Amino acid sequence: MDMEVSQVHGGDWASPSVMEYVPGQQLLDLSSSISPYGPGPRARSLWPSLIDRIDRYPDWRAFEATKTAAAHLHVEEHQVLMTAGGIEAIDLVLQSFAPPRVFVKVPAFSEYRDRAEIRGIPVHSVSGAGDLSGQQGLLFVANPANPTGEVLRSQEMAPYLEWAQQPGAAMVVDEAFLEFLQDWRELTVTLQAAGNPHLVVIGSLTKFYGLAGLRVGYIVASRAHIEAAASASLPWHVSLVAQDMATACLQDQTYFAQTRCLLDAERERLTGLLAPLGRVREGAEANYLLFSPHGACLDEVLHGLNKRAILVRDARTFEGLDGPYVRIAVKRPEDSDRLVRALQEVYAGK
Ligand SMILES: Cc1ncc(COP(=O)(O)O)c(C=O)c1O
Repeated sequence: MDMEVSQVHGGDWASPSVMEYVPGQQLLDLSSSISPYGPGPRARSLWPSLIDRIDRYPDWRAFEATKTAAAHLHVEEHQVLMTAGGIEAIDLVLQSFAPPRVFVKVPAFSEYRDRAEIRGIPVHSVSGAGDLSGQQGLLFVANPANPTGEVLRSQEMAPYLEWAQQPGAAMVVDEAFLEFLQDWRELTVTLQAAGNPHLVVIGSLTKFYGLAGLRVGYIVASRAHIEAAASASLPWHVSLVAQDMATACLQDQTYFAQTRCLLDAERERLTGLLAPLGRVREGAEANYLLFSPHGACLDEVLHGLNKRAILVRDARTFEGLDGPYVRIAVKRPEDSDRLVRALQEVYAGK
């Protein structure tokens, strides 16, 4: 088979195995869980004017974007650092904490482990807070988790937060997908992180705000951690375009409340459409689902979808999952319909 089964990340639309099938067909990328509704009307109306300011350096303090993010998250400006995506936030937190070891609640985004190992920090997987007892180090937990989409509500989060308060312990909560949830304001721990040296939140404008190509995210933490992370960052690490687009998106909350509702409804609809075709893993609350097909083997499904210019994420590369799945992003209704038609064709051996 000519496809690449093992994917490091979703969204690899330029890989040779994908490009082979794309000419003549419109690519449908369901492998990276990014809002299909894009960055919104404010960002779109700002866009043409950015070319006239592209000859300037970005504001290295990212003053406007930081102010807007802080207001959105209900924290102080000195408790926020804008970053080049969530990925830079992960790396800066590792640099500024320099922990003796890292713990990752699995299954999880691979970059917590990869970034730590590149820095020579030993990494241990944990499946529950019990695994942490008596340990010291920095814990990464994503809420919601990637790839399961499971959400830790305050009762489930409490034992991790309690562990992190111990001397020598600290915790990063990755809220990259949190704003897809209707009750995200109740779930976010940004307020706690702002005043607690043992807790950091990282966020991203990649997914919910549809800014993947710009690379913009943030860290929320106490002033001392923000200063340490800022001094570890490169000058001008967040581009002028990224800063201005982030500001415009964060100020466009009416639009984003609508996209949240559309995607919430579509997750339910897609779950129903996929049910006759395999097992949809329960508990997914963000904008992606884990699906285990029962009409064909996973390799056939991946290959058959690739041939139809549809990308889904092979979730077999995630440690600690309870079965072989593909991860499917929730997009527009017509995208779900195209996926289901393609799956039916693959099952029928077409
Ligand atoms: C859980 C999680 N956190 C962070 C990121 C990094 O996102 P970005 O660097 O695009 O903001 C990803 C990307 O897939 C992710 O899945």
